[in-house]
Amino acid sequence: MFENVKAIPGDALLALMMEFKQDPTPTKIDLGVGVYKDDAGLTPILPVVKKAESLILENEQSKGYIGPAGAPELAPLLQGLMLGENHPLITEKRIATTQTPGGTGALRVAGDLVNALNPEAKIWVSDPTWSNHFHVFAGAGVEVRTYPYYDAQQNALAFDNMLDAIRQMPAGDVILLHASCHNPTGIDPTLEQWKQISEVVSERGLLPLIDCAYQGFGDGLEEDVQGLKLILEKCPEALITTSCSKNFGLYNERIGALSIVAAQAEHCSNVFSQACNCIRANYSNPPAHGAAIVTTILADTTLRQQWETELAEMRTRIHRMRTELVKNLDALSSERDFSFITAQKGMFSYSGLSKSEVKYLKEKYAIYAVDSGRINIAGINDSNLERLSQAISEAISR
Ligand code: LMR
Repeated sequence: MFENVKAIPGDALLALMMEFKQDPTPTKIDLGVGVYKDDAGLTPILPVVKKAESLILENEQSKGYIGPAGAPELAPLLQGLMLGENHPLITEKRIATTQTPGGTGALRVAGDLVNALNPEAKIWVSDPTWSNHFHVFAGAGVEVRTYPYYDAQQNALAFDNMLDAIRQMPAGDVILLHASCHNPTGIDPTLEQWKQISEVVSERGLLPLIDCAYQGFGDGLEEDVQGLKLILEKCPEALITTSCSKNFGLYNERIGALSIVAAQAEHCSNVFSQACNCIRANYSNPPAHGAAIVTTILADTTLRQQWETELAEMRTRIHRMRTELVKNLDALSSERDFSFITAQKGMFSYSGLSKSEVKYLKEKYAIYAVDSGRINIAGINDSNLERLSQAISEAISR
């Protein structure tokens, strides 16, 4: 079986991450993979996570299986975080949430579920989107199509084209929307645009699949789910994938969730049972530790407050780096207007840098960014800002 198998290239983003790790250049800068870094360029464990872990270590009684749906106490906490306490979907039991291994695990279960419930349905993703969306849904056997999202001339949302494309999508198909901090562009719809999107999605009879991977990294915990809530007001059915990787800094613990929203409580529990079936057939049970951390933090008023403060620090630092980068680039060159970078949200910026400029930055300065021009703003800090700005201004003036 193995003799004639050809090797295939690994994921380009993860390859870039490995290449950066192995680069011995002391002044290297990592703007590649989407991981938060502090002003020292490190991805430390949040102090609140350390506290929660020591409590868990003291109190944990068993390493027994937690069941396909994961920790039962996680679901209401994540639902409350997303929708606010006492949201009608919660009180009417029209939302059910299962723990998953990371946001990617949630997307895979969502893909499996879509395939199980309607094998004809396609999933529409934005152009561009997180590159792994394609692999995950293809792995689940679901056809993926794209809709326009990015206007390269204006560095803005191609809103009219996006709406026109949604109007053409066949009823019953699935549309993936990023709740906030769009990956890779950093460009989110305004609330007014979200309203229009929700109307068209509902009129077309599409199933929204909302990828919520950066809650708290854009404008705030509540602000970052405003669009998601507008969609849920208009659409009786939806899927939501949550990641706790970024906002809790729990990347390698693989903790996320899939939420199912249905028109009636009974539909919701029926679909939930199907999701649990997909999980059982895939990885059987999720790992427990990440969920224990998140529940310990969210269930305790003091820890939760500390987490919100630590999350706000990450968000504020990213905002500051956006502003500083634009200020520096403006001062160094008038060749290009980079002011759009401050309007973008979250970790990422579609910087407008071309593939050859990205290549130049890597070869000459060991500055690592994605070929598409996506840069991770969290990779910028007070020590590398000057050098980065100089290098970018040199790259664009060549
Ligand atoms: C990214 O887009 O860089 C992150 O979501 C990390 C990943 O797994 O690709």
